[in-house]
Amino acid sequence: MTAPRVGRVISMHSVQPVSLANGVKMPQLGYGVYKVPPDRTAELVTLALESGYRSVDTATMYGNEAGVGSAVGAAIAAGADRVGREDLFVTTKIVNDAHGFDSTIEAYEQSLAELQLDYVDLLLIHWPCPAKGLYVETYQAMETLYHEGRVRSIGVSNFEPEHLERLMDQTEVVPAVNQVELHPYLQQQQLRDFHAAHGIATEAWSPLGRGAALQDPALLQLAAKHHVSISQVIVRWHLQLGHIAIPKASSGERIRQNIAVFNFELDEQDMATISRLDSGRRMGSHPAEVN
Ligand SMILES: NC(=O)c1ccc[n+]([C@@H]2O[C@H](COP(=O)([O-])OP(=O)(O)OC[C@H]3O[C@@H](n4cnc5c(N)ncnc54)[C@H](OP(=O)(O)O)[C@@H]3O)[C@@H](O)[C@H]2O)c1
Repeated sequence: MTAPRVGRVISMHSVQPVSLANGVKMPQLGYGVYKVPPDRTAELVTLALESGYRSVDTATMYGNEAGVGSAVGAAIAAGADRVGREDLFVTTKIVNDAHGFDSTIEAYEQSLAELQLDYVDLLLIHWPCPAKGLYVETYQAMETLYHEGRVRSIGVSNFEPEHLERLMDQTEVVPAVNQVELHPYLQQQQLRDFHAAHGIATEAWSPLGRGAALQDPALLQLAAKHHVSISQVIVRWHLQLGHIAIPKASSGERIRQNIAVFNFELDEQDMATISRLDSGRRMGSHPAEVN
């Protein structure tokens, strides 16, 4: 692997870890690969690793676990910057069709084969699929994998408080994270309060509002004030609120820009300005509708 091309903006070590409930440390900023085409995934994940990202978010549903695994494997084999498997954090997710105990174990084994890894750092239930009614069994299979030491941490995605309550009533391991749609237009305060009360880390998907927030006039003013881009303002907002964020981008320039967020700080007024942008606008599906 070649040296990072990020230049002057940021050191490789500026992304801080978040301590999950089980003590595992997860980088607060990662690279998401939803809609990254399988034939470009290895190249873009390699660019992300070269730019200082140490966490990658994929899923069976994205069809690109093999590309993630190929980039991770190449980075470890190259040993550049002394990157070992233990320095990297890989998340994948159990696909909706695999809900159920045995099918979850099989789906995890299939993901490991695609990723060419012995374990992942975080395994999530991708969607609760409430109409299927199988997320408890699915999670129990993940608890088994966790107790056997085959996965470092387990959690959920797109869970509403009612799903989390049922899950926590019927299982033992508190979900390490809940990965949910979260950006300036959908700030999820109630859900974030629920997470805080139960020691669940909040992870933001579509942290940039899937690109929609990148034209916002109020954010443009903040970007001009700090001499940064709107995407950098939004990533910084997530980090200052304590969220884990996983922006996706398709060019080296954007990938590098989204991690170059450690040379400025939003003040209280800036944070309040962004708080006022919450309109409840979703870019993706509501969890109740996905099954
Ligand atoms: N658990 C779930 O159900 C779920 C659902 C959705 C997403 N996710 C995860 O969250 C990750 C991120 O979400 P997302 O991909 O939906 O949306 P996002 O990260 O909020 O936004 C991505 C969009 O912003 C653009 N962009 C990124 N950086 C930019 C920059 N610096 N300047 C200008 N435009 C920029 C990208 O364009 P280009 O790509 O053209 O560069 C893309 O159109 C996914 O990759 C996935 O890992 C999880």
